[in-house]
Amino acid sequence: MRITVIGTGYLGAVHAACMASIGHEVLGVDSDADKITELAAGRAPFYEPGLADLLRPAVRSGRLRFGTSFAEAGAFGELHFICVGTPQLAGSYAADVSAVDAAVERLVPRCARDCLIVGKSTVPVGTASRLAAVVAGLAPAGVTAELAWNPEFLREGTAIADTLHPERLVAGVSSARADAALRQAYAPMIEAGTPYISTDPSTAELVKVSANAFLATKVSFINVIADVCDVADADVATLAQALGYDSRIGPQALGAGLGFGGGCLAKDVRALAARAEELGASDAVAFLGTVDAVNAARRRRAVDIARSMAGGSLRGTRVAVLGVAFKPGTDDVRDSPALAVAAAVSLQGAEVRAHDPRAAANARALHPQLRFAPDVTGACEGADVVLHLTEWDEYQDVDPWALRAVVREPRVFDARNVLPLERWRAAGWTARAFGRRIRPGRAEGPRPAAAGGRLAPVGGGSPRPPGPQCPSWCLRGDERCECW
Ligand code: UDX
Repeated sequence: MRITVIGTGYLGAVHAACMASIGHEVLGVDSDADKITELAAGRAPFYEPGLADLLRPAVRSGRLRFGTSFAEAGAFGELHFICVGTPQLAGSYAADVSAVDAAVERLVPRCARDCLIVGKSTVPVGTASRLAAVVAGLAPAGVTAELAWNPEFLREGTAIADTLHPERLVAGVSSARADAALRQAYAPMIEAGTPYISTDPSTAELVKVSANAFLATKVSFINVIADVCDVADADVATLAQALGYDSRIGPQALGAGLGFGGGCLAKDVRALAARAEELGASDAVAFLGTVDAVNAARRRRAVDIARSMAGGSLRGTRVAVLGVAFKPGTDDVRDSPALAVAAAVSLQGAEVRAHDPRAAANARALHPQLRFAPDVTGACEGADVVLHLTEWDEYQDVDPWALRAVVREPRVFDARNVLPLERWRAAGWTARAFGRRIRPGRAEGPRPAAAGGRLAPVGGGSPRPPGPQCPSWCLRGDERCECW
């Protein structure tokens, strides 16, 4: 099919590349000329694993093109996907749909052939029915243009797999013709067995915000339980594992920690509450407001814990921050809980030195006062507290023995609840997390002295061979082994 994708951000660029990869002719359109230049050269303008590998061959083959012209889009497409952003409206909880409105208003008068306009952006329920009338009114004489809504559920970091192998497709359509066009666009996924739910546009719009509100509720729920675990001396990680085996609950979105962020969950919770209130369903506002409030409290609590670990005041301290992206696998720092905590710690007088494998540039642009180190060791040099704020895989492999030699005080707060903290404790760190019982580490030794670039054996003596008494995490045979 001849497809256009209007808006080439985290959603649109991925959608365009994926549609081209399954055989469609695709034109991506965006008003940001710099972004278009990058994409047209087959380069991803942001970090998304696998995106560049899809873009390059598709652009080279000519099946995927990019431009800034709505006239070109209108002449080319039989299916137009609207993928522009719908951020939170300033001064309100509602979503700002002005970019969606503008895209429709610019595109439809330029449509030179019969076409289907397909909204993918997340919008308040009722937007599609309002815009259907706009589309009908703006379509040039002799051209049949119709509107459908087809929400997108991709997650940043796994966006390519989520698009090519979705868990479901939802088509909000008003005619058999629109339904047939969407089935044709997604034919390979449907043939592979992906459930395809054909419904009306309002239901489709609500599926998306409900899914995000449900995920947000799940995350806030486990965070509330983490607080209960804290006071009950129970372990939320084990609890979540046990809950997750229940097929009615499932294991996803039960990671207690710093809460949700990013460009979607929080603003969709608020937009759903705002829309429900407009429609007279005010009870939803109270409930979703609690989900949002629980989430906001995580960030404040993390700052409080950092301050108490630093000895009651952050002023004049040095704080190492591991991770500033809103989650691992992305360079996106929109509404990042990690970045919010780093910025708050800095405002309270700490010198923050951060590391993030992908998001440093985006974070620096928003918070120039934060300093970034090229690696974990550099970020932690001389630190009074280490804050683990985004759970990149590489942080879980950090050697706490080696890191202890570079910090001023071995104190770590794992705000994402994934570090092997028993191991850190065994290496002599004071370790904290949300709602986790951390068993005392074995053989908490004195701070090892650096000797010739290597760490001396705790208690002196020469390195010993590993033995059955070594726990699974032991660096066997290494002179840092402390389990003898
Ligand atoms: C989300 C939805 O998952 C996706 O379907 C929709 O299309 C867009 O919004 P995304 O924002 O990429 O996707 O991230 P997601 O993986 O859902 O995580 C959202 C936030 O929740 C992140 O900040 C993440 O760190 C946090 N989270 C997630 C937790 O705190 N705990 C968890 O167990 C899972």
